[in-house]
Amino acid sequence: MAEIKNDLSVKYSLATRIVHWLTAIGIFVIIPIGLKMSEMEISADKLALQKTHNIIGLVLLLLTLFRVFLYFKHERPANLKTGSKWNDKLIIFIHNSFYFVIIIMAISGLVTNVTTGVWEAVQANDVSLYPAIIENVPAQVHKLLYLVLAVLILMHIGGVLKHWITNKENTLKRIL
Ligand code: HEM
Ligand code: HEM
Repeated sequence: MAEIKNDLSVKYSLATRIVHWLTAIGIFVIIPIGLKMSEMEISADKLALQKTHNIIGLVLLLLTLFRVFLYFKHERPANLKTGSKWNDKLIIFIHNSFYFVIIIMAISGLVTNVTTGVWEAVQANDVSLYPAIIENVPAQVHKLLYLVLAVLILMHIGGVLKHWITNKENTLKRIL
């Protein structure tokens, strides 16, 4: 494949770069917390973990809403060219999907909290209020979307590595 020369000296804006890495850290922390929490027996520890999960999730929601604002207000570097039109479109699709998936994840988590009584238990800090079963449509959406998010992350990181290997370009320069 021909080497494509993207201009790597043009970066995303500082705010976009900071939000990118804060979000990445948040997601790498919140997913294991969510998985751990959902397999625990009801206990004070589970309640504390749920509280932490809710707080990180809401911070991620705010960061992503701010990121939507940045998307429209801050100049962005030209879209990456890979040598394949299909691949170029896939990159944009993955980037844009992240915005939607994170926002819907956070909203479904919030709705799950409110509709199942989790929120009440967390606010009152009362384990006895924690629902025995968390099972409704928002909870299912939340569980399904985390898998979608995991696939997007794998494709995203895989894409960075693939681009590095095939096109010999370190695209991290644009986001660091
Ligand atoms: C924005 C990013 C978020 C991610 C990536 C995320 C991820 C996860 C994961 C991986 C689980 C475990 C799912 C499973 O059992 O298979 C989970 C559970 C849960 N999350 Fe989130 N979450 C996010 C935001 C939120 C927010 C903002 C809230 C509420 C304010 C929330 C509330 C919950 C609740 C109540 C559960 C328990 C569901 C259950 O046990 O069935 N999440 N989350
Ligand atoms: C796990 C959470 C992550 C999410 C949600 C995410 C999301 C995004 C999004 C939406 C963009 C486009 C810029 C923007 O609109 O902000 C982007 C760019 C980028 N991300 Fe991530 N990212 C994550 C993690 C990572 C990780 C771990 C790496 C390291 C390999 C990485 C490497 C990059 C690179 C190199 C770019 C620049 C692509 C370009 O030049 O256009 N990301 N990311």
